[in-house]
Amino acid sequence: MTTGSLLAADLVIAVLAAAGWLGGGAASAARRRPLALGLAAFALLATLARAITITALARAGWWFAAEKVLVAAPLSLAAVVVAGPRLLRAPGDIRSVAVPLLFAGYAGSGGLLVTVLHGYPASAGVGLLAVAGVVAATAVTWRALGARPSPTVSRVALAVAVAALVTGTGLAVTPDAAPGVPHDHRYRDAPTAGEPTRRFTLTAGTATVSVSGRDVEAWAFNGQVPGPELTATVGDVLEVTLRNRDIGRGVTLHWHGYDVPNSQDGVPGVTQATVLPGQEFVYRFRADQVGTYWYHTHAVSDIGVRKGLYGVLVVRPAPVTGVDVTVPVHTLSGLPLPAPRTEPVEAGVPVRLRLINTDSTTHRYALAGTPFRVAAIDGSDLRGPTPLVDTAVMIPAGGRYDLVFTAPATPVALFVDGREVYSTGPVSAATGAWPVLDPLSYGVASPVPWSRFDKEFTLVLDRGLDLRGLLPRYAHTVNGAAEPDIPPQVVRLDDIVRFTIVNRSQVVHPWHLHGHHVLVLTRNGKPATGSPLWLDSFDVRPGDVWEVAFRADNPGMWANHCHNLAHADAGMTLHLMYS
Ligand code: C2O
Ligand code: CU
Repeated sequence: MTTGSLLAADLVIAVLAAAGWLGGGAASAARRRPLALGLAAFALLATLARAITITALARAGWWFAAEKVLVAAPLSLAAVVVAGPRLLRAPGDIRSVAVPLLFAGYAGSGGLLVTVLHGYPASAGVGLLAVAGVVAATAVTWRALGARPSPTVSRVALAVAVAALVTGTGLAVTPDAAPGVPHDHRYRDAPTAGEPTRRFTLTAGTATVSVSGRDVEAWAFNGQVPGPELTATVGDVLEVTLRNRDIGRGVTLHWHGYDVPNSQDGVPGVTQATVLPGQEFVYRFRADQVGTYWYHTHAVSDIGVRKGLYGVLVVRPAPVTGVDVTVPVHTLSGLPLPAPRTEPVEAGVPVRLRLINTDSTTHRYALAGTPFRVAAIDGSDLRGPTPLVDTAVMIPAGGRYDLVFTAPATPVALFVDGREVYSTGPVSAATGAWPVLDPLSYGVASPVPWSRFDKEFTLVLDRGLDLRGLLPRYAHTVNGAAEPDIPPQVVRLDDIVRFTIVNRSQVVHPWHLHGHHVLVLTRNGKPATGSPLWLDSFDVRPGDVWEVAFRADNPGMWANHCHNLAHADAGMTLHLMYS
């Protein structure tokens, strides 16, 4: 069983246990004896089963189990100790077990709420708040059911609830995040005058675009979705003028995967101000890395990118030989892009398909009709990629794969989630059952260039209640906090930094660090054995633990966030900062 399914199973069992206790309590209050006994027995079994799931999760990693071991398990134990013996005595008056059963229900629910609303890290404050809630609810129930607890019991309950509430509330307030520091605008490689310069102008505006014959209201660069394809030869200077015609919430340009100087990174409020209607901003940086990248707005990025403010950036080592096609995949108003395209290619011609996922969720790509190699991922060439046949690749949100092959005499076709997007002629292929490439074991390894790490960070991804703003929100959290309360990761220039990313939530988080590429060290405890993988976007699936590392060689203040942009906007964004 994977850690992801264990997390899900544990959650389901916890819900069943709490519901069983509460249902049993209600049934006994209503004097429905068989129902009460049945539900309580079921709850007892479910509660005991959690001992197995919690232990297994703790063995998979303390991050997955901390609050379950420290809060839910003691509460569940109390539930079993209080309700169990009374049940076994099979009381004559079933109503007499209503309070113990409901207590067990509150205890189970308390532990569950700590997991669902708070998660990792477990804190004494949150545990005490749960205890206060359980005691208070039990006391209220006791009175409501007309039983008269002895004065001593009442006083003790009141004292426990108040003490737990008071200390818990105090302890639950986490210290404030470190204050931000001014941005560092040192250029690592500032372009100088007189170099070959490629100039583009991108004007952002609302537009009606046509997608598979339907008119769609979009936000577009130069009236088209995707925006114009920007191309350069390595060594060129790119100078891109961004204008905003009428996007009221503003726009910027972020060069996804391109490690530009910090001042050109396009993050509003961090590296520049948002470009409002009527304004412009000129980006200038040297195209010193070859490969497949993309650009997109970083202002209200979830809405902006979804509505169409994105395009392709390709930097080639030399003028194109052979066929070189970009396939930026996107979903615009529910309609898939790009439109399918067919063009015959003469046998023997080298072909490169640059696959780009500009959506917020993973896509599955399958190339049928030819052996191929994955030449590059996220713009970095792989070492010793071997030919693949009938194998699919999964590309995370924001990620890019370059597939290369020599055109055979027969047609080939590329499918995205089963839909044909590119072909050289008619192909019928059922690609749905193909195995998926694991890039961590593809290609030829070379040793990790570092043996010691100057800084280590752990990011535990989850969901939780964020009470900081005006309205409470159910945020996507990192280490129990949501933007802007996640403390920045502070590094010094040239530090070798390792970070561990743990996903204890039920959804995939495609992780994306700006300004740097990270080298994958391990996933779920297993070292990467294939070509070195220098990624800027990678899927951390539920239950996954990734260890990645990078050299801090690009000073500034960099966003580090989930590239499911809805998650990023709902709290899952922090910053990497140079001291
Ligand atoms: Cu492609 Cu911060 O984003
Ligand atoms: Cu996410």
